[in-house]
Amino acid sequence: SSKNDLYRPAIHFSPAFGWLNDPNGLVYSEGQWHMFYQYYPMDTIWGPMHWGHAVSQNLVTWQHYPIALAPDELGNMFSGSAIVDKANTSGLFQKESEANLVAYYTASLPSSDTSLADYQTQCLAYSDDQGLNWIKYEQNPILNNPKIECFRDPKVFWFDQAKHWVMVITHGQSIGIYYSQNMIDWELSSDFGAEEGHHSNGPWECPDLFPLTAQNGVTKWIMVVGIGDGCYAPGSGTQYFIGDFDGKNFTNEAPADKVLWMDYGRDYYATQSWSNAPDNKRIAISWMSNWRYARQTETKTFRGIMTLPREFSLICNESGHYILRQSFCESVSDFFNETMPNDNVGVFRVKGKMMLEIGEEIEINLFEEDCPQFIFKRLDAKTISIINNRLYLGSDKVMEDEFPHNYTSNITNEKFENGLEIIVDKGAVELLFADGTFSMTQLYFPDKIENKIQITGSGQFSSITEDTK
Ligand code: FRU
Repeated sequence: SSKNDLYRPAIHFSPAFGWLNDPNGLVYSEGQWHMFYQYYPMDTIWGPMHWGHAVSQNLVTWQHYPIALAPDELGNMFSGSAIVDKANTSGLFQKESEANLVAYYTASLPSSDTSLADYQTQCLAYSDDQGLNWIKYEQNPILNNPKIECFRDPKVFWFDQAKHWVMVITHGQSIGIYYSQNMIDWELSSDFGAEEGHHSNGPWECPDLFPLTAQNGVTKWIMVVGIGDGCYAPGSGTQYFIGDFDGKNFTNEAPADKVLWMDYGRDYYATQSWSNAPDNKRIAISWMSNWRYARQTETKTFRGIMTLPREFSLICNESGHYILRQSFCESVSDFFNETMPNDNVGVFRVKGKMMLEIGEEIEINLFEEDCPQFIFKRLDAKTISIINNRLYLGSDKVMEDEFPHNYTSNITNEKFENGLEIIVDKGAVELLFADGTFSMTQLYFPDKIENKIQITGSGQFSSITEDTK
């Protein structure tokens, strides 16, 4: 088999063949975790978008389902979300049921005049058989284009206090917030972000908005926004805002120019959380690539994978600031503890605790020669610790050309003496540290797949364990 087969991950979701980008329509229903995704089955580069579909009981092993949505006369099937319409508010179903699924997606009509942007409208489809068959709503689109060039990626959720549904959606370089009583007719309530956070040349894509409650009982709303280029890593990046939401307006509580990144790696984009998840959990997944080189990565039969599912929580740090924390889902840990096959070369987890004094640094080499190499350095601890990291990417020519071999960045974090967790898969590495308040997610394509990691440096490490089996 070709070298390229080396990079089909074992525990990260990949399509059997074809091209994948954003996760779409994430919804939990009757014991099933549904994942739809931007999919082009005919080639391994982006093309006329479909919604692919996969289903899991544990968020680690996935079963491929038939394509859910295919292009039609309104356009290609761009990103969107799905919800359970248990009470049959939409009136589209026979009865009230946990299995009533409604999907909101963008129909993107390529213009024949190449000087014009695509024409994007919002559409609805529904299914009562666990997403196997979808009926597109007869009167689509449900939301016409309000003369906004990039008008896409509707994420819909129920807002209980006001008893209405909310949609957040790309409005060019800000996020439109709409509401609806009946799930079909939508009113604009506000527009967030024109003057906040990070802006670069791309639109604000794939928004998500959800509440999280910290251990002290305080609830905050998190607004997640992707930008296709010009971000931290560089290339595509995902930022978030913490604030309040009253059903119609989102208020960012940080200074307008403050930027919070969800991840400090290159490959964490189009983050979306599951609706209707059990136990009020907020579980999300991201497309693990970057628009800068997504079409050129080193795989042959398929291209594009998802991150591992992560659970989000809110913590209040020592200085009273709220910050997002990410952890790998319990089922990911269970997989390493229990079910991972012995011969799974190239798939392993390293966990540990470490302490870095000011000026100390550690290096993490995933493979001795042919690495990505992470270097963390604690520079300053006046009120905050600043971690300086550099990353070197290994053998991939395209990525080397597109990105310099190393780059330096400062990351602020108050707690660096805490947990470190690294999961290495074939073609992918995910790293959480400072107790999950810092994450770094990267594709990588080493020449040789090994079960090796090397951690060196002046910092103190304790209880490093490896689950390599
Ligand atoms: C983000 C994105 C979305 C769009 C989709 C098209 O990666 O550009 O805004 O709906 O991809 O595939």
